[in-house]
Order: sequence, then C-alpha cells, then structure tokens
Amino acid sequence: MRKSRDLLSSRLPTHVSDLAPGRGALRPARSWLHSDAPSRSLDGPWRFRLSPTASEAEDFAAEGFDDRGWDSVPVPSHWVLQGDGAYGRPVYTNIRYPFPLDPPHVPDENPTGDYRRHFGLPADWSDAECVVLRFDGVESFFRVWVNGTEIGSASGSRLAHEFDVTSVVRPGDNVVAVRVHQWSAGSYLEDQDQWWLPGIFRDVTVIARPAGGIEDVWLRTGFDDGQGRVDPEVTAEPAAFPVTLRIPELGVERVWATPADVAPLDVAGVEPWSAERPRLYDATVSTAAETVSLRLGFRTVEISGDRFLVNGRRVVFHGMNRHEAHPERGRVFDEEHARADLARMKRFNVNAIRTSHYPPHPRLLDLADELGFWVVLECDLETHGFEDAGWAGNPCDDPAWREALLDRIRRTVERDKNHPSVVIWSLGNEAGTGGNLAAMSAWVHARDTGRPVHYEGDHTGEYTDVYSRMYASVPEIEQIGAEGARSALAHCTPAQSARQRAKPFLLCEYAHAMGNGPGGLDEYEALVHAYPRVHGGFVWEWRDHGILAGAPDGTPYYAYGGDFGEVVHDGNFVMDGMLLSDDVPTPGLHEFKAVAQPLRFGFGDDGVTVTNLRHSADTSDLRFRWRVEHDGTPVDGGDLELPVLGPGGSARVPLPPIRVSPDAETWFTVDAVLAAGTAWAPEGHLVATAQRDASPPRAVPAARPRTDWRPGGGTLTLGIAEFVDGSLVRLAGRAVTGPRLELFRAPTDNDESASDRVEDSDAVAGVSHADLWRRDGLDRLVTRRVRVEQAARSLRTIDRVAAAGSAPSVTVESVWSLGDDGLELLVEIEPSRGWRTVWPRIGIRFGFPDGTAPVDGAEWFGLGPLESYPDSLRAARTGRFTAGVGDLSVGYARPQETGHRSGLRRLTLLSGGTGVLHVEAVPDRSGRRPGFTLSRHTPQQTARAGHPFELPDSTTSHLIIDAAQHGLGSRSCGPDVRPAFALRPEARTIRLRITADR
Ligand code: GAL
Repeated sequence: MRKSRDLLSSRLPTHVSDLAPGRGALRPARSWLHSDAPSRSLDGPWRFRLSPTASEAEDFAAEGFDDRGWDSVPVPSHWVLQGDGAYGRPVYTNIRYPFPLDPPHVPDENPTGDYRRHFGLPADWSDAECVVLRFDGVESFFRVWVNGTEIGSASGSRLAHEFDVTSVVRPGDNVVAVRVHQWSAGSYLEDQDQWWLPGIFRDVTVIARPAGGIEDVWLRTGFDDGQGRVDPEVTAEPAAFPVTLRIPELGVERVWATPADVAPLDVAGVEPWSAERPRLYDATVSTAAETVSLRLGFRTVEISGDRFLVNGRRVVFHGMNRHEAHPERGRVFDEEHARADLARMKRFNVNAIRTSHYPPHPRLLDLADELGFWVVLECDLETHGFEDAGWAGNPCDDPAWREALLDRIRRTVERDKNHPSVVIWSLGNEAGTGGNLAAMSAWVHARDTGRPVHYEGDHTGEYTDVYSRMYASVPEIEQIGAEGARSALAHCTPAQSARQRAKPFLLCEYAHAMGNGPGGLDEYEALVHAYPRVHGGFVWEWRDHGILAGAPDGTPYYAYGGDFGEVVHDGNFVMDGMLLSDDVPTPGLHEFKAVAQPLRFGFGDDGVTVTNLRHSADTSDLRFRWRVEHDGTPVDGGDLELPVLGPGGSARVPLPPIRVSPDAETWFTVDAVLAAGTAWAPEGHLVATAQRDASPPRAVPAARPRTDWRPGGGTLTLGIAEFVDGSLVRLAGRAVTGPRLELFRAPTDNDESASDRVEDSDAVAGVSHADLWRRDGLDRLVTRRVRVEQAARSLRTIDRVAAAGSAPSVTVESVWSLGDDGLELLVEIEPSRGWRTVWPRIGIRFGFPDGTAPVDGAEWFGLGPLESYPDSLRAARTGRFTAGVGDLSVGYARPQETGHRSGLRRLTLLSGGTGVLHVEAVPDRSGRRPGFTLSRHTPQQTARAGHPFELPDSTTSHLIIDAAQHGLGSRSCGPDVRPAFALRPEARTIRLRITADR
C-alpha cells in the first residue's frame, strides 16, 4: 500500500485556520460515484463512549485499547437519539446559538463521542493503489485514527470527507477510532433552524481505489433543439487511459485514448430531462480497472434576461424546502422513507425542492433525478446567530474563515455536480453577506458555467444570478413583477436596484406552514401567471421536525423545543411543515396541491376550456372524467374527450348535457387523473380538478317576522326542543347546552405571532392577535339574559354578552320557532361599538354531553372533506362527506384551531353511524353560508394545551356553527391575513333548521 501524506496533529479546533481543508490525509472533494471498485460499509454497531468535555484522554485511539466496557450505538445515528436520554438530549434553536457567541471558541462543556470498531479487509486489497475511508456526514467536528495512527480531522457536518488510509491499513483486522465533538468552530457555520444532533449520522465506507481507476468524472449534459450534448471531464492518471464512455440506449461508445482526447460529443435522438418527464439514460465510464455508472438527464439551464429557463422554457417552482428530519432517526437517511416522501411530494403537485439548508444524503439526488424535481442544492452554511450582534464577526465577511467556506462550497458542488435535477447552486442560508460568500460564488461560477448561483442574503445582487426573497407579501411581489420593485429595493442604490430588477425572481421561502395554515397560497400562485419574471418559490417547509417522545404517563407525542429542558430554545417554531411529524399531510398541503395543479379549467355556458400549465409535458398521461351530483349524490358521469394539449396549450370542449335538479344543488365536476401508474402514483390518481355550480338560482325563504311577543319563562316545548327559562335543555330527548356565543378560537401559530410585519393587514405591530383577543376577553365571555319572550310556537331570548373588565358587548337575539317544516333557530349577533381588533370567529356553540349514545361523528353536505378557512378554500369542494369526530380535527403539534368546514348546507350529527340530529343551514340575507366545527374540546380547552397529550379527557362533543371565521395568513413568519379575509366585528345572522328522525 502506498505511503500516505504526513499527518497533522489535530485537536479540537480553537482557531479558524484549523477548519481549513486538507488536514491530515483528507482528500480533495469529488463526485459521489457509483463505482464497481470494491468497498465495505462500516455502518452497523460501533463501540461508543460519551464524555462531557473535549478533554478526555486520547488513549481510546490506541489499537489495543480495551473497549469492552463501552456501550454500543448504531452508525449512522445521532447519539442524543440513542439510549433513551443516556447520551444527552436534542437541542432546538432557530437563530440563537445554544452556546455563547464567542467565535471561534465553544464552551468546555462540549459533549464528545468516542467511537471504535473493527473491520476486516480482504487480502486482495493490497493491490489497491489507495484505500479511502469516507464519512458522508458527521456533526460537527471529528478526528480519525486507524490502527492507532491519527489520520486527520474534518468539519462540515453534511458534507462528504474522504481520508487516504493506505499506509495504515492491512489485510485482515483493522481498528478505526473516531472522536466527535458536538461543538466546534464549524458549529458557527451550521446555525440552521433545526435540532442540533451530534454524531456520525451518515454512512461510513472504506473503499479500495484501483490503480488505473477513475478518480472523478463529470458528465455535463445539454439539450438543444432535439439534440443532446455531453461535455465530459475525467479525472484519472494518464496511465489509466483509454477511458470509454458508453450510453447503450443511444448507441454511444466513445473511447478516449489519452486525457487530451476527452472532448464533448453531440448525441442525436435524445429525449430531454425535465422534472415532469425525468428521462434518464444509463451511462458508464470505464477504464480497464474501474467502471463508474451514471444516469444522464439531458437538459440546459440558462438565464435569459429576467427568465430562468430549462431547455428554453420558463420554469415555475412549485417547491418545498426540505430538511432531513425524522421523529426517530433525526437526520439519518432512510432510502425507503425518502422515496416515499418524494413520491408524496409528486402526488401533491410539488415539482421542486430546495435542500434547506445543506446537501442532503447523496442518494436523495439520485431519487430526485429519477422521480423528477427541479432542485436548488444548498451548501451547509448558516451564521444567523451573528445577526443579533449586528453581524459583527460574521464568518462570511472575515478573511480568516474564507478557506473554511470555500471548502464547504467545493465539497457541495463537487459531490453532486452530475445530477440533472440540480439546476441552481445555493451558497447557504441566512449568513449575512460578505466577501467570503462572493468568493464562494466566484468559485462556483468558474467551476460550473451551466448553473446559476443563488443566495437570498445577497440583497443588492452583487454576486448572485437570481433575485431571491423570503416571505415577501403579495402586494410587494406584484410590484416586483410589474414595474420592478423600486420600493422593495429601497436599500439599493439605483444601479443595484436595476441589477436586481433585471434578474429572474423567486421566493426561496414563503407560506410559512406552521400549525394551521398557511393562508393565501392561491394569491401567490396567481402572481406566477401574471408576471413572467416571477418564478414561484418554495414553501417553508415540507415537514414538522417533531421528535418522538413520551409524556409522563407514557403517551407518545412529538416533542419540540423546550421539551428536552434546553437552556435556550425556540419552542414549536420547528413544527412548521406541510406534513405532520408522522408523515400525515396537513390541509395546507392539500391546499397546495389544489393551487399548484398543472391544469386550468375555465367554465363557460356550454363548454370548458382546459389549459396545460406544465413546463414541457403534454397531457397524454392524463384521462379526464366528469360527474354530476345532486346535493352531493352522483347522478351521472363519464369520460371527457380532450385532444392532447402541449405545454401551454389549451382547448375548449363542450360540456356533456347536465341533468339539473329542480330541488337540489347541481354540481358538475371534472377530474384529470393519471391514465397509467407512475413511479409515484397509481393509475387514476387525481392530478387536477374543478367544479361548476350548475344549480338554478333559488330564493332564500324569508324569516317569519313576529310582533306578538309577551314575557316568557318556565318550561316550554317546541317540537323536539325543550327549554327551561328560555334556555335550551334538550333536543330530540338528548341533553344539550347552549347555544352560546363563541367569538374565540384556540389561537393558531399565526394568531400567536407578534411580528412587526403588519403591512397590508389588520394586525398591530409587536402584538399578536391572540394577545389582543385575550386582553378583550374573547376567551372568557359571560352572558346576562336581558329578556325571555314567547309567542305562539315561538321563543325569543335577548342576551348581552361581554367579558369581565370590558365595556364592549355583543347583543344576541335568538328566536326559536316551530313551523310546518320543523324547528328553526334564528340568531342575530350584533356587536356594540368599541371593539378594536379583528375577531377569530362569530359563532354559536352547542354542547352534547355523552349520554348513552354520544355524538361521535358528522355527515354533511357542504365544503370538504378537509377543514377550510376564508383564505384557504381551494382544496375544498362541494359535496357530501362523513367523518368521525376524531378525524374532524388535525393533530397539530401544538393544539390550536382546527376543523372548520365552510359552506355548510346540511349537517347530520351521528352516534355510532346513526343520525341523531339534522341541521340545515339557511344562507343569510347576503347568501353567505355558515361553517361548522365538531370537536371533543372547546376552543378554551384546546388553547390551554401545549401538546395533544395535555388536552383533558372529554365527556362532551361541541358543535360550533360559525357565521364567519377569520383567515389564516402566515404571520408566524411572514404576512398576516390579507384585509379581504380578515373578520372584523360586525353584525351576523345564523339561521338553522333542526330536525330529528322519528
Ligand atoms: C427562515 C429561515 C428558515 C426558517 C424559517 C422560519 O428565515 O431561512 O430556516 O427558520 O425562517 O421557520
């Protein structure tokens, strides 16, 4: 075996220069290749010892050290997620470092994990020119010894590091020892908003590099006018040549006799690669000693003026920010789970991924190539914690850190450069700005001319190619799209502003999906159709990062910041995904799917115009189906014949004859479904859908006015309703409380945000809506009955509802009357003057205590099947739905408002599948319909719980009929509810007809 280079002695780096690349036998970065060279996985159980500081003796690295007393942990894993707390606990912070800002130093309390394992090498590895030990991910700084000899050290937690161990390994048994420090100077560069999770969390591999092998290869591809191009770069010793490129499916076999012969080639008859049609061609590059396999996707990425184009066509990102997060594994990659996750994205019309905020496991990009995503590949860099110090000392602007940062971007680009899915390189996230970022960008531009560079923090556009923003509001993006956002770029000089305005615009983050939300997705979508410069964006974020934990009584739950006793933490800000921690898609994700659907339907009187909004795929993969429903019951259906539409194409087809019902609502629905199964969804999977109301207009029956009121009281029966002193006590023999005015909702995470960003909304800077609601006592209203009156077959009550300590009130007039068509309740809700805030809801709440037959479900005709709110209605369709009470609420990590179904027509409360009460909602004078919520907890109970397990046991089902609800917005990190969807105190009417089966 060859002699390795001199080894540097390396301890925990307390100097920035110690982070620079090349320590010990560290090799230069290269692609993560699929090669037939022999390799051995060192994944599996390792001996492990945890020390509280970095100063434990290094004797463990000696070859003969007796580690039999040590524990065992699996590699890959994070030690804080092993041993049920035996090795410390995870820590969650968003911006703040969980240690003092004292760069590049870290505290002496520095959890340090020592790892050891034996591994065998076959005798024939002695022929290898070089033996390489590769670590795909270790957080945050590590040193390596093999057979007692120190090999080197590395940092850059989510980057690959390879060491040359040729001179120290031998056939037969070998011992590798690794010391991992949780904190290091490198931690200052890894301040991403996520859990801090130390350990060897990605694979460890030992690889035999053959003499005459291929050190690295880069097959750049292009596609132009039906013609593919391969621009190869082969890194190999001259003696390794000839090198042969084969693309069997395209009949390509090119032999390069010497390095000088390696040259670009044009390939005819190629189909392009796109996120929609991810056409890949198997290729091999081989020498006599080694064959490397790649999958080529032919595509050309370019910026032309303010357009971002792939294969000459504008790309619209319907993207997700994807962290690597799993409730049990943390950032440890599981290919099966990742594939299922990406397939789920495809099913929800997601077409792009930003790998926030570091390179993912390298296999993820193979999956992205194969399933089809536009990927923004981000470097492992964030220094957000310096912001509080006014960015003083920011590593991105200090030459001492330059090499460390350049090392990170080199490792990022080199590792993943072969992937067709990667269309943009991103320098990092929230790391301020400075010369080192500019240097990183310059390096990328020199190395890869085929992909633009992104970094949102380059606010003046000095060194990046796209204009990127996070959480910009709709009005602001309108400006950016229309006249170029002079005001949005107020911090720029005229020249800087002009430069930014000349670039393609994208949102690297928007629509903060924390808790119930985000609202307003459809408004963002409208912008990409109105303004070609606006290329869409990436929702923050794909999934919640909850960690599976147990409540004191053993109930499993998903933990967030503070649940592990962290000294500083940021609570549930880490629970802001479109998927709950257990992979359950939120209503927000369903809304995204509806908004991002790749077809537009426009209904006319007798036809429907269908437009294909895709980048480059036609509609030959889709089948169109239609159906007619009367009050939600299907009465007709069939296939809709449509010509194949090319990208951007549209066609108008006649509607089939619609059988319109005289006395039921008639709805026409068209669905576009997959004509055949794909790698990510079965045949028949719904891709896009639209509905048209074909009902003839119907008059709303007027309420019966009465004048013959006289004082009432005592007991009274009106049909199925029984009252005592004006209060309802029974319906159809079933005990009931209420209805009482309900103005409160358990605040959403957006309601709880006190952000100063209040432009274009009804919010107050620095104070949350929730605090204002609690100040005004919306959660603790009390009632004074002003009057009880009766007339023939009617009862009227007038209540004054207000909160302790407050003068403003609400007058609630309720009229119960028994007519030929049953019992009717008419509630007029009228606020006094003096209310100062938006209201979460205007509703009435009934309670149904569990008796022998508890109310445990609902069947309804209205909008569904999932919850919907005024600014999140696109996923909801009009139909007939059934759900158990448990399924009517979403299990958000922190309990909050959930379950509102809008546009209610008819509701049946169920007990064990049998209808117990029917409620018909009559539209108000303006034709507005109420919504409903059925839940086992009141808003007040829900608001008091920090986690689902803290919700009290319930003995009652609560039905709230809302005349109106406030929107959702995304103020937890971004704009609040837009004025059009804000609920201001106003007079509202609720009108219900209540019946029961006899
Ligand atoms: C962004 C940041 C993300 C995340 C998000 C809020 O500013 O880039 O990493 O912190 O805010 O959840």
